[in-house]
Amino acid sequence: MITVKGDEMEFENLKVETTNRIAVVTINRPEALNALNEQTLSELQTVFTDVNNNDGVRVVIVTGSGKKAFVAGADIVAMQQLSALDARRFSKLGHELMRSIETCSKPVIAAVNGFSLGGGCELALSCDVRIASENARFSQPEVSLGVIPGFGGTQRLARLIGKGRALELLLTGDMIDADEAYRIGMVNKVVPQEELLETAKSMATKIIGKGPFAVKLVKEAVCTGLEMDLDRANQYETELFGLCFASLDQKEGMLSFLEKRPANFVGQ
Ligand code: CAA
Repeated sequence: MITVKGDEMEFENLKVETTNRIAVVTINRPEALNALNEQTLSELQTVFTDVNNNDGVRVVIVTGSGKKAFVAGADIVAMQQLSALDARRFSKLGHELMRSIETCSKPVIAAVNGFSLGGGCELALSCDVRIASENARFSQPEVSLGVIPGFGGTQRLARLIGKGRALELLLTGDMIDADEAYRIGMVNKVVPQEELLETAKSMATKIIGKGPFAVKLVKEAVCTGLEMDLDRANQYETELFGLCFASLDQKEGMLSFLEKRPANFVGQ
């Protein structure tokens, strides 16, 4: 059940802490290795809806509680008895969340601290950047359960690592370790587990130091542009580049360079 205390939101299956404009969202169902049930999907959706319009948050980090799992998948206990219609609805809920993360106006970093399987892998794939701890493991094991991925795995994995490698993982259900995930471009960095959150926070802090308006448009240009043909995507970039010059951040960013001082961005 969701209650709101002042500015802080409280959830059944999440912990959300905002410090220095970095929101750390921790999926917290350790008894089920942080598996995603409907309640958890809804709570995550609430967070990302809030974050989109919350000026107090500039970067989001998503992680799992404990040292063993990021998210071990969609909740198999909850899925086992679903009818075809209910399964379709569950998939739609997952898809809506993943899309909200992907299109969130703030950068989202996945700090993958252990098993990232099925829906957990799909959650990581919908984030902008993935940092893995050395013990992280990735797989899309749905075929072992007689189903296919339902939160975008067949689409985002192929887009991120290419059709051949994605199909190999999707068809075999093989689990790969963090180094292999790094080698095939599934994760951006691999770090010792005790450094995971700090590494994610330090990347977040670096992003927060940049022009907020430009950061938002970079994400938009890449994510929207990838869905267009190259000519239209380049045109889109041109429009967004032009838009930057209507912002105070562009004036401050370029002036601060010429005055040889740090920029003081206002995010407008
Ligand atoms: N759903 C529900 N419960 C889960 C779960 C999941 N996805 N993954 C783990 N759990 C539960 C286990 O049932 C177990 O609960 P109990 O203690 O009550 O028995 C608890 O978490 C601990 O798990 P294990 O005892 O299995 O721990 P382990 O160390 O032996 O194995 C594991 C860890 C390899 C991650 C193993 O738990 C596992 O294979 N989990 C399932 C992974 C999976 O198939 N995920 C894909 C789900 S389908 C999906 O996600 C579809 C989609 O795209 C939408």
